[in-house]
Amino acid sequence: MPTVLDPDLRRALAERVRYCHEMGIYDFYRRERPVSDSVPVASAVAEIDDLSPPLQELREEMPAKKSTVAAKPANESSLPILTPHPEQAVTDPVAALKLIREDLGDCTRCKLHKQGRKQIVFGVGNPRAELMFVGEGPGADEDTQGEPFVGRAGQLLNNMIKAMGIRREDVYIANVVKCRPPGNRTPERDETETCSPFLMRQIAVVKPKVVVALGAVAAKNLLAMNASMSELRGRFYDFVPAGARSSDPSWQGTKLAVTYHPAFLLRDPRQKGEAWKDLQMVMKFLGLEPPKKSE
Ligand code: URA
Repeated sequence: MPTVLDPDLRRALAERVRYCHEMGIYDFYRRERPVSDSVPVASAVAEIDDLSPPLQELREEMPAKKSTVAAKPANESSLPILTPHPEQAVTDPVAALKLIREDLGDCTRCKLHKQGRKQIVFGVGNPRAELMFVGEGPGADEDTQGEPFVGRAGQLLNNMIKAMGIRREDVYIANVVKCRPPGNRTPERDETETCSPFLMRQIAVVKPKVVVALGAVAAKNLLAMNASMSELRGRFYDFVPAGARSSDPSWQGTKLAVTYHPAFLLRDPRQKGEAWKDLQMVMKFLGLEPPKKSE
């Protein structure tokens, strides 16, 4: 039997789903209920204690009368209820990142899983890092070792981190896509759109003070902006990862900066000075001093 939905409610939900997609939220969990336990949609939504802003708005937007929408059998009434991600229930970032990794599983959500990837390259580093670097996607070395930025570009990134007076273990490093694109091609839109919600969740857990986007792919995906590197660099952006609660005070003051990808700097070392300027801007914000010559 087809589901008959109240038209106002249907419209509100459709608008909300569209809005969530624009925000980079793609995962909607269906809450299955036994027939006897089915409840009106509005009250099912209201049960979610800790709603992210779009969900709170959804609840607010739902006209009061909709709470009387007739309950339907479970197989019909199980509308997509927007459920918080599992890691939002834990405070320990180590446990939270583990939950995201588990959710990712042996991911087959996009075509990269069948294009020669050896393994998923999730992320590495300090789960409480003040500084997070985001690259594009794993290369051959990363695919082999299961860790981001371990190849030549990774060596340069390590040197950049060292020049900032910190260690690789102090920061958190991840990529927009977690599987190696074949031949190191740029990840395609469907791939970044499928994978970036996991990156957003990693950022939401680590809650760094600064996110540094390495290169245009990371910058454009994180900022949802299509601009050139020269337009994107040289300034801080206020950053709230899609899906995080913008009302959460711990997000206030979180910055995003854009710099050149280390692989680009290997190809054009003349731009290292410009990248260093970007990093100095970040260092100033974080109160970091470059190491003394003897260190
Ligand atoms: N380039 C990236 O963007 N990420 C890596 O992990 C390695 C190289």
